[in-house]
Amino acid sequence: MTWSKRNRQLHRALSIIFTSTVVIAFIGAALGLTETAMWLFYLPLPPLFLLMGTGLYMFVQPYRKGRNNRQTVVHQH
Ligand code: HEM
Repeated sequence: MTWSKRNRQLHRALSIIFTSTVVIAFIGAALGLTETAMWLFYLPLPPLFLLMGTGLYMFVQPYRKGRNNRQTVVHQH
């Protein structure tokens, strides 16, 4: 498995984790838990930070020349 493929899957998995932490934070706020547990609001930050890293990696992929990066092949009939 290539590095960029693994990175994309990691980004996808992180997006699910990130979304879950946002949902948890909102439920916590609705239940009034955040009055005492302020850290619930910070829960999405670690996955968001990792999403930024893996996302920026994907973003620069097409611009990394001379590194044997495969272009997306458009299926032709
Ligand atoms: C924080 C900064 C982020 C950056 C710089 C970023 C960047 C990117 C880039 C460049 C792609 C590839 C687009 C393409 O295929 O042309 C991508 C895909 C994707 N991003 Fe992000 N992203 C970020 C955050 C997020 C967040 C917050 C979510 C969702 C909660 C998310 C969910 C996804 C998903 C589901 C894909 C498709 C992955 C796949 O192809 O399997 N990203 N992102």
